[in-house]
Amino acid sequence: MGKNSSEYADGQQETGKAIHSFMDMVAGEAEQYAADHTSPMSPLLEEIEDYTLNKTESPSWLTGRIEGRFLQLIIVLSGFRNVIDIGTFTGYSALAMAESIPPDGKVLTIEHNSANADIAQGFFDRSPQGYKINLQRGEAINILKSLPPEATDLVFIDADKANYLAYYHESMRILRKGGLIVSDIIQTRNMLGSSRRCLNLIKIPTKVQLSDP
Ligand SMILES: C[S@@+](CC[C@H](N)C(=O)[O-])C[C@H]1O[C@@H](n2cnc3c(N)ncnc32)[C@H](O)[C@@H]1O
Repeated sequence: MGKNSSEYADGQQETGKAIHSFMDMVAGEAEQYAADHTSPMSPLLEEIEDYTLNKTESPSWLTGRIEGRFLQLIIVLSGFRNVIDIGTFTGYSALAMAESIPPDGKVLTIEHNSANADIAQGFFDRSPQGYKINLQRGEAINILKSLPPEATDLVFIDADKANYLAYYHESMRILRKGGLIVSDIIQTRNMLGSSRRCLNLIKIPTKVQLSDP
């Protein structure tokens, strides 16, 4: 959702174009319908969206309203308090999640591009929920590896696709029992294995019960 099929955070070219063309056609109408029937976000998130679409070179990276509301819904329904956002960009997903976690909750968001991090931090500083957000600058895999087990309830993976498998394994290590991994665009890009049977939403009832797809 919210991404053009041919553009990815790491600049990779996509494969499987025929499948993507069909999916884009269906997804375009479905996404428009979903957007039309999704409640607006907070004024600051709408401002981030407007800024990202009009003033950045990669507007398609934006998570946006549909995915943002989806993340918020998961957080509220699950009662999650501590979440990790891999790939801050202009701060949309991090702030969307911060707005939904309880007052003592925390969002750790990770960004290796300092210009993006500066933009995001500027928005976080203006938000009454910004105190919940810890923006860490650096390579996501290194920061994830520095975290202890059971550090988080939810990991949202939305960064360089080449590292998704590594992010997935580190996320499994640091998730609490009952936690969740949500990943942007892996289904058609074969990120977690040799088949197309990849999950965008991975429920972890207990860590030992889940085997890799
Ligand atoms: C698709 S954008 C994230 C969009 C964001 N979640 C949102 O809600 O709009 C991906 C971001 O991940 C960052 N990124 C890519 N590779 C990274 C890495 N190895 N470590 C940290 N950040 C990375 C990029 O600089 C980019 O800002």
